[in-house]
Amino acid sequence: MKKIGVLTSGGDAPGMNAAVRAVARAALARGMQVVGIQRGYVGLLNREFVDMNARTVSGIIQRGGTCLYTARCPEFRNMDGVLKGKAVCEEIGLEGLVVIGGDGSFRGAGDLSSVGIPCIGVPGTIDNDIQCTEYTIGYDTAMNTAMEMIDKLRDTTQSHDRCSVVEVMGRRAGYIAVNVAIAAGAEAALTLERPYDLNEIAAKMTKTKNEKGGKHHFILVVSEGVGQTENIAREIQEMTGIESRATVLGHVQRGGSPTLRDRVVATEMGYHAVELLEQGIGNRIVGLKNGKVYDVDLQEGLAMKKEFVDRLYDILNETAY
Ligand code: ADP
Ligand code: F6P
Repeated sequence: MKKIGVLTSGGDAPGMNAAVRAVARAALARGMQVVGIQRGYVGLLNREFVDMNARTVSGIIQRGGTCLYTARCPEFRNMDGVLKGKAVCEEIGLEGLVVIGGDGSFRGAGDLSSVGIPCIGVPGTIDNDIQCTEYTIGYDTAMNTAMEMIDKLRDTTQSHDRCSVVEVMGRRAGYIAVNVAIAAGAEAALTLERPYDLNEIAAKMTKTKNEKGGKHHFILVVSEGVGQTENIAREIQEMTGIESRATVLGHVQRGGSPTLRDRVVATEMGYHAVELLEQGIGNRIVGLKNGKVYDVDLQEGLAMKKEFVDRLYDILNETAY
């Protein structure tokens, strides 16, 4: 291929810039031209392009967010939008496209591949909820941010002998919640994947509070998909008599300078995407399997099922008290 495009789509994630940089640098090193498409599929349809050279992507590897901006594009969900996207690619001579985003963005990439524009999906979302990969760009940074925030919350929770019920992101997945709960030394993680019993949690809290040398403050981590964080805090307070506060960490988890892991994985994945396009291969998702970068057919990858981290959940429950 002589000319490829790169875009970021869906929710942003720390490390997306590292992936954009790797795509641009690897492609330029192979003699390809690189076009940055701003605001995902919206920018493709509206022709929001930036020509990229090696310096365009200088000084971005350490930055959160995405220098290409991101957006959601309802028009791309139907074939008319996709065909319009194909026509724009042909108009400017784009022979392939790297799509950095989540599974919604990959569906768009699959549709564009099916009409003759080879696309490679690179997983970028803090939720780690893409089935065919062990890891998605942004996950590590987001978890570290949440952990640091909970460490701060613990100071005030402890001073007041309270319970903090903290909501972390993850609309459909509890991976952030269970990992952060372990790392922050929380008493429980409430997720969609595992049934939980508030009465049981409250009983354990009351028991330890009444023991000599028992705990006097508590942290419960709730994944966004469960929601009801205010209600959970109120119910816990009613059941235990322990003053409880709800805190929703929210979008702060999506920002900040990416960790080393996010920068390195993003660079490896972006590089691999260019290697595929260079060979004329499209309709693939790049992922991590057994710790190594690999690629899988886009539709097969989207249909895969990811195991929930049951063992981590068990370990959390058995080490919390
Ligand atoms: P994410 O990529 O993070 O999962 P979204 O689900 O919001 O985020 O998807 C991002 C964009 O990808 C959407 O705004 C739309 O342009 C495109 N997209 C999502 N689902 C589809 C689909 N089924 N077919 C084609 N394009 C889609
Ligand atoms: O998918 C990443 C994510 O941050 C989810 O955890 C969260 O539910 C969602 O995006 C929030 O999306 P928005 O930025 O549109 O509010």
